[in-house]
Amino acid sequence: MSNKLKIAVIGLGSRGNAYSEYAALLPDECEIVACADVLPDRVKRFGDKYGVDEKMRFSSGEELLAQEQLADIAFICTMDRLHYGHAMAALERGYHLLLEKPISPVLSECIEIADLAKKKGLEVIVCHVLRYTNEYRKLKELVDSGAIGDVVSIEAHERVAYWHQAHSFVRGNWSNSKRSSPMILQKSCHDMDILYWLAGKKSVAVSSFGSLTHFKASEAPEGATERCTEACPHYFTCPYSVDKNYLEWGRRGVFTWPMDVVSQVPTMEALEEALRTGPYGRCVYYCDNDVVDHQVVNVLFEDGVTANFNMSPFTAEGGRKITVMGTKGDLESFDDDIVFSPFIDRFSDHSVKYKTEDVEDAFGHGGGDYGIVRDLLALLNGKYDVGSSLTRVSDSIESHVIALAAEESRLNGGKLIRTEDYIKANS
Ligand SMILES: NC(=O)c1ccc[n+]([C@@H]2O[C@H](COP(=O)([O-])OP(=O)(O)OC[C@H]3O[C@@H](n4cnc5c(N)ncnc54)[C@H](O)[C@@H]3O)[C@@H](O)[C@H]2O)c1
Repeated sequence: MSNKLKIAVIGLGSRGNAYSEYAALLPDECEIVACADVLPDRVKRFGDKYGVDEKMRFSSGEELLAQEQLADIAFICTMDRLHYGHAMAALERGYHLLLEKPISPVLSECIEIADLAKKKGLEVIVCHVLRYTNEYRKLKELVDSGAIGDVVSIEAHERVAYWHQAHSFVRGNWSNSKRSSPMILQKSCHDMDILYWLAGKKSVAVSSFGSLTHFKASEAPEGATERCTEACPHYFTCPYSVDKNYLEWGRRGVFTWPMDVVSQVPTMEALEEALRTGPYGRCVYYCDNDVVDHQVVNVLFEDGVTANFNMSPFTAEGGRKITVMGTKGDLESFDDDIVFSPFIDRFSDHSVKYKTEDVEDAFGHGGGDYGIVRDLLALLNGKYDVGSSLTRVSDSIESHVIALAAEESRLNGGKLIRTEDYIKANS
């Protein structure tokens, strides 16, 4: 009998496919044995690709989880508000989980998942993939080495990029917080997790401002039509037109993310049809989006450590910039480049540069997507000590507390929220 770890994948969209591709790169460690999605064509495509037995293909996560335990690990890759139901049912069945973030948009549900995992003795690893990238691992290593002394403050900037905002947070899955979750949780729980991880302290208080300023009807250029393909007069000039954002990429033969979100079938015909009829063909000024298009957050951590964070889509390209400031030096990191500047004197340049990019950066999220799968398998196989980068649910909740408290603050005009009070009121 094979002693490979068996995996069941629930939710066969973008993330379910991404993690499965990385799992497939580790054939000695694991095998995908079961899958589920409510869209039959996704189940068929996925099942055929990974050779999943017909009897192990299911028409929903609920149906898969109604069976006796079929695998060791469940990858929960459904949308935000389905995570709780799928995670709780899977834990009851005895699965370890790779659980997409956010754990849940409701804090009490996050806590319930963590409690049940503890009671059952099961691992729940939350997909805070940044912790598994070489860039952030190196930053954490430098901070922990004491190179910059005690961390005093952190400045972080998430550049979402105008086209990514339009794709995911105006036209796409995360445009409406009632269907998914607030953007500060959805997109930036990663950043809140990194602030917490690098500060090495728990949060004490949070305040936040932000709003939706641009992607709304009042900002539409004159004569814009509700869909790009309805002879919109701005078709060739608007930076958000489907021609520039999707069709031109298709004509160039590029069908990887985000193209595969628009159409999993990589042909021009399928793409054109999806844009004519689906959500990604809508004018960015006439969608049902309600999430913010910019937000700032201030966090006070224990021992007076402070952090400020700025999330904005009004940038040409995406990427995260972070500066960690300590009593003996600072660290600046952007796009895999880290510069360590110790405080010695001002007569010469004492800075040290680290380039953290390596072969794994070819994989999603700077290697983080592959890293999390590899480390989860290693953890369950007892292969090596995976260190502090693993994002167990009990630890990952802190990022959700900060993000949810920030949203509460934003909705209340920037009111100061003490995180302890937020937890008490929402547990
Ligand atoms: N870790 C990261 O960096 C990262 C990045 C993007 C998205 N995410 C998270 O991953 C999750 C999934 O995002 P995605 O982009 O893959 O979305 P997606 O829409 O591409 O995939 C979700 C899939 O779930 C399926 N589904 C819906 N109901 C189901 C049910 N009851 N049972 C089984 N399947 C069901 C859908 O049909 C779809 O195929 C979201 O919660 C998102 O927040 C995380």
